[in-house]
Parts: sequence; structure tokens; C-alpha cells
Amino acid sequence: MSGLIEKLKSTHDLTDAELLEFLGSPQPEDLLFAAADAERRRQYGDAVYLRGLIEFTNYCKNNCYYCGIRAGNPHAERYRLTDDEILACCKEGYALGYRTFVLQGGEDPYYTDDRICALVSAIAAQHPDCRITLSIGEKSRESYQRYYDAGARRYLLRHETADPAHYRKLHPDSMSLENRKRCLFDLREIGYQVGSGFMIGSPYQTHECIVEDIRFLQRLQPDMIGVGPYITHRETPFAEMPSGDLHFSLKIIAMLRLLFPKALIPATTAFGSLHPQGREKALRAGANVMMPNLSPTAVRKLYDLYENKICTGEAAAQCSGCLAQRIRSAGYRAVSDPGDSLAYREKTAKSGTDR
Ligand code: 5AD
Ligand code: FES
Repeated sequence: MSGLIEKLKSTHDLTDAELLEFLGSPQPEDLLFAAADAERRRQYGDAVYLRGLIEFTNYCKNNCYYCGIRAGNPHAERYRLTDDEILACCKEGYALGYRTFVLQGGEDPYYTDDRICALVSAIAAQHPDCRITLSIGEKSRESYQRYYDAGARRYLLRHETADPAHYRKLHPDSMSLENRKRCLFDLREIGYQVGSGFMIGSPYQTHECIVEDIRFLQRLQPDMIGVGPYITHRETPFAEMPSGDLHFSLKIIAMLRLLFPKALIPATTAFGSLHPQGREKALRAGANVMMPNLSPTAVRKLYDLYENKICTGEAAAQCSGCLAQRIRSAGYRAVSDPGDSLAYREKTAKSGTDR
């Protein structure tokens, strides 16, 4: 019964057949989560790293079928933050102890490379001790290099699904899995700390798709793996599709911790949106990062990726206090350092470079 957990614990891998068996059969949750928690503590102790998330534009030229801010949703009320507003969010986040800022947005053509670089440089100048993370979608290698030269050091781009047929069911023809993968390997090569990941329980996802996701992540070796349950949005073509399952999503978190012991794994907002204690449960299943929202309260509701998204009425300071409390109650410790991945720390210790 727990043979697969034992093998995961000792070898950090399973064959395709074993992965399918693991995904398809009930596993003893207490054993699985205890194994994941032990591995997480061995690698990262009880630290939970914080990233201040700034959702700076909800304009998007893409039309992913699952996402509430897709270009084709005429009911999405669009907004962009000004550079000054973004810098004010960083300043507030800094005062709250955050040393990583994540600029996340739709693929918004208004933000030319010049604008992104100016923004990144301005944040880097004001907060030289912080890491700047971008999460603004698929770009050319040249663009990624320019952002890096301006001071960005991390990039989040979920691959969403590594199965080509599944990818086609989630995205219109204008998008391609090949290009997304190209982006991720370009980011790696440039020297970014890279985050990738996928939704759990997205429409048409099978266990075979998840095996593909794992094999892809094993090739990419990202610093961070972001996953969370798919949550329905009524104004998308998938309005009738059910949301992902909490327990299955937690099982995936624990499995990822055991497959990728050194990865940073966020307890994502989608977990908190599916269940009031969803993020705490994700922490106890092996996650070790949280991304509190720093966006101005006035625009939070508008970054409407999926329904019942949490923290849309709270101010940054409220989220910060709430989160600290939740992290404590789950049995962990919020820390205020940049929180580089272990793989990155080992790499920079060898080469002597940083930032
Ligand atoms: N449910 C859950 N996650 C979603 N995302 C987009 N739409 C949804 C949804 N309906 C995730 C995608 C994207 C990230 C920013 O949000 O994985 O990469
Ligand atoms: Fe935002 Fe709890 S983390 S209100």
C-alpha cells in the first residue's frame, strides 16, 4: 500500500506505470504528507518564503479557454497600474518585510520591452536588496535577456500542460506548447531562476497528462514549481467544467515535494480559494512559499482569473498579518529573506555570482 511512498522517499522518482498507479489509487494521506513534510524540513527547515505579488495589468492578448481575463471576455473590466503605483506597492511590501516582488500581468502589448525594463530598473534602484520576478508571459529570447540586464532575476511561466493534445484543448491555435517550452529553456539559459507548473484538474486533464508534466519538469529542473487546482470561471468557454479536487491537488503537492526535494513550491491562492484552509493544508503537504497580494485593493477584484479568488477585499497589511498567522498555525515560520532555491544557492556558491 505505502510501497510507492517508500520508493518516492528513497529514490525521488517512479516509473511511468508507478506514477499512474500512485495517481489512480488512494494513498494514505497521513503517511504521504508526513513524508513530504519531512523532506521539506530536511531541505528548507520550517521556513516559508514570501513573495509580494503585484498584479499590474489585466489586459491580455491571449485567449486561454480557462482564464477569466482572456482577451475574449468582454465583461472583464480592464486596468493597468502606473509605474508610481507599482513602486508604491513595492515600498509598502518592503516595509512589510518582503524581499521579492513578483510583477504579474496578462500579455499586455502596452508594456513594450522599454517600459518593462524601465520599471524593473526603477524597482532595482529603489530596492537593491530585493529580487525582482517577472510573470508576463511568452516573449522572445532577446526580450528576456533585456529584462535580465535591467535587473530581473526570476521568471514565472507555467507550462500549463506538457501533453500536446491536452494543450490544444486548453488553448486556441494562436498559442503553442513548443513556444512555451522554448521560452522556459531560454529563461533557464539566460540565468533566471525559473518557475513553471500546471493546473490540477483542468478540463480534459488525465493522469497521463500529469506524468507528462512530471517528465517535462524533470527535464527543465525549475527552481519553483507552481501548481494549484483549476477553478471554474463563468465567463469562459469552460464555464460548465467542474473545478479541481482539493485532496487530489494536495496529493500532487506532496508528490512534487518528494520528486523535486529542492524545489520551491508555493501554497497558491487557488488552494485558498477552493478551501478556507487550503493554503495551510498545502504547506503541510510540502509547499514552502506564499505569495501575498500587494496590489492596490481597488483593482484586486479585477484580476479575476477564476471565481471566488481570495484576498480581493484586503489591503496589503491585512494579508501580511493574516498570512503570518496562517503560517504559524500550520506549524511553520515566515522568513523575510529573498528565498532563493537551493539549486540556485548551490550554483551561485560555486560560481561566486549573485543577484
Ligand atoms: N483556475 C486556476 N488557475 C488558473 N490560472 C488561470 N486561470 C485559472 C483558473 N481558471 C492560472 C494559470 C496561470 C496562472 C497565473 O493562473 O496556471 O499560469
Ligand atoms: Fe489575504 Fe488572508 S492572506 S486575507
